[in-house]
Order: sequence, then structure tokens, then C-alpha cells
Amino acid sequence: FSPALIDTFRRRHDYLRISLTERCNLRCFYCMPEEGTELSPESHLLTNEEVLRLAALFVKSGVTKIRLTGGEPTVRKGLNEIIAGLNGLRPYGLRSIAMTTNGLVLSRRLPAFIDRGLTHLNISLDTLDPYKFEFMTRRRGHEYVLKALDVALVSQALVSVKLNVVVVKGLNDSEVLDFIEMTKERVLSVRFIEFMPFTGNAWDKRKMVPSNVLLDKIILRHPDVQRISDEVNDTARSWRVPGYKGNFGFISSMSDHFCSSCNRLRITADGQIKVCLFDAKEISLRDAMRNGATDGQLLQAIGKAVSGKQEKHANMEDIDVITNRPMILIGVDKSLM
Ligand code: GTP
Ligand code: 5AD
Ligand code: SF4
Repeated sequence: FSPALIDTFRRRHDYLRISLTERCNLRCFYCMPEEGTELSPESHLLTNEEVLRLAALFVKSGVTKIRLTGGEPTVRKGLNEIIAGLNGLRPYGLRSIAMTTNGLVLSRRLPAFIDRGLTHLNISLDTLDPYKFEFMTRRRGHEYVLKALDVALVSQALVSVKLNVVVVKGLNDSEVLDFIEMTKERVLSVRFIEFMPFTGNAWDKRKMVPSNVLLDKIILRHPDVQRISDEVNDTARSWRVPGYKGNFGFISSMSDHFCSSCNRLRITADGQIKVCLFDAKEISLRDAMRNGATDGQLLQAIGKAVSGKQEKHANMEDIDVITNRPMILIGVDKSLM
């Protein structure tokens, strides 16, 4: 493990999230404004070669899992080649090649991704109702996402398939039990995510449903739910209805953050290293590379960013105190859009 990836709180970072694009083919209201967001010019984004150079450096420093994100990663040109390039890092210790996608164009492209080495897939789908889907994402295509999920679930090669559900009060919180029913016959993990504040995403504490409120509701219907053990550094706390093939979990970023066991680093599409989702400080690895930095110099820059990582992000109480300011304070998180 390279010291560059260990922070001052002795957290080891073996999980790298790489954002491949700022673009998306949906407009989820909790992620971005209807008109979209201002995008960096194409020339500011990392090239495939730059992505793979950084990935190799991180893997040789101890990263074992890489997740491709966006925007929407499937809109990135050359995605197949990037996955294939990452697959070439297996001999250096990379074990998981993961992707988080909205699934819109996935059913057609998934076989090629799997062929190139994709191992883990998270699909974002917040509602089982096509009309609500259109309202929440401001686009059509619900049936394509469901189709993609079916294609993913029959694939023998994927190690895990998860469904991400951002829960918003009054919109889709009534669907929680329906989502759990999906795990009856499917080997699927459904994860209910607390709505988080980001610049321009219309966050309101009253729209956030804390995980424990959802769990209480679930227990009324399924009093025998069992807590199952989580993987180390998992963002979700997982449960299972006895007899169901899949499971469900909660990502409680707001009510019970998991910062003390955080093992993640991020690279934004324009090549900044970001050590925490909620930290606006970024160091440009792209500029360093384009200025001719050696691998050693890049590692130094990475080490500097990691050593500045804070112990934790603001929790809910802090957010109450700074009413209306968190989004401005936090800054846009392009890696999540
Ligand atoms: P797994 O690797 O399957 O555990 O996926 P993941 O949960 O790490 O990633 P995914 O892209 O599926 O993100 C799901 C949700 O996890 C996001 O909506 C966030 O709420 C949360 N999340 C992911 N990374 C971070 C992080 O670094 N910090 C915090 N606070 N939340 C995160
Ligand atoms: N709060 C919680 N999760 C969010 N995501 C996007 N915006 C938010 C938000 N404001 C989710 C997406 C996707 C994952 C990468 O992040 O739905 O599943
Ligand atoms: Fe696109 Fe994901 Fe943002 Fe929705 S949440 S607009 S799918 S990047």
C-alpha cells in the first residue's frame, strides 16, 4: 500500500471512483437543474490515455476497486476501451471494475461491457411508476431501465447487481415496499439512499426521509427482517426478508455518515482528485500530467490531496445550523451528477 493513499486518520483508500463525463441523458431533479449544468469544454476532460494512466498509478498504489461514474458513464465515447484498459490492470491488483449508471442505454451495451471486464453494476432507478420516472428524471425511458435490469440479472458474469433508489418524501417513499418485493425472486440488492444536498438540486431537509423511518415502516410489513453482514467499507447497511433471494439496504449519508471507514477517492471528469464527496478542495492531476509530471510527481500530488482529507463531513445537525447554506458551502459535486 503506497503511503500516498493513507490519510492522517489512518484510512487506507483502496476504492477509486472515476467520473468519465459531466454529461447525462437524464435530468433528475435532485441532481441538476432542468436546463442542465454548464459543462467543461471537451479539451478539459481527461482523455482515455490519461484516465488509464491515473488508474494504473492508483492500482499500483493499492486501489483494488474502480467504479466508473459520470454524469452518465455510458455517454462517454470510448467506454469499451476504458473498461478493457482497466481489465489490463488486474495483474497489478485491481479486482473489481464497477459502474454506476442510469441504465437508459444499458441493455444494448451491457454485453460488451461485461466482455471487456465489468464485474459490478449499480443501476439508479427511483421509481417503478413510468409517470413518476418522467417527473423525477424529466425524460422518458422507464421501460429501458427495467429492461437493462433484466439483462443484468441474467448475466452470470456480474458479481453483483444493485439498484440505487434515492428516496424523496412525498414522491417515491410510498414505493419502498414494492422495491423490497423486487428482491423476492431476484438476486438483487436494492439500496435506499438518503437525499443529499448539492448545489442547485433543490434539497430540503423536509424532503429527506431518514433510513430509520423507512426501516420502521418496513418492519410493520415484514416483522422478521434480518440484518445481514455488510462488506467492509460498505456504504449500505443491509437487511433481508427471510426467504427472499435478494436483499435491501440503506445508504444513510445524512443521518449516519460512514466517514470513519471511508476508503474512497474520486477523480472528476476534468481530472481533479477529490478526497471527499463534500469537500470542494480539488487538485488537478490533469494539469500536472499535461505539464509533464512524472509518475512520482503525480503520486506526490495525490499524497498531498489525501493528507488533507478531513475526518468527516458536516452531519445533519451542522446542516441545520447553517440553514440554506450547505449547498453553497459544499459546492457542486460533479462526480455525482
Ligand atoms: P458500492 O461500491 O456498490 O458499495 O457502491 P457505492 O454505494 O459506493 O456507489 P454508488 O455509485 O452506487 O453510489 C450510491 C450512493 O452512495 C450515492 O448516491 C451516495 O449517496 C453514496 N455515496 C457514494 N460514495 C460516497 C461517498 O464518498 N461519501 C458519501 N457520503 N456517500 C457516498
Ligand atoms: N442525493 C442522494 N443520491 C444522489 N444521487 C444523485 N444525486 C443524489 C442526491 N442529491 C445518486 C444517484 C446515483 C448515485 C451515484 O448518486 O441516484 O444512484
Ligand atoms: Fe443523470 Fe444520475 Fe444525475 Fe440522474 S442522478 S441526472 S441519471 S447523473
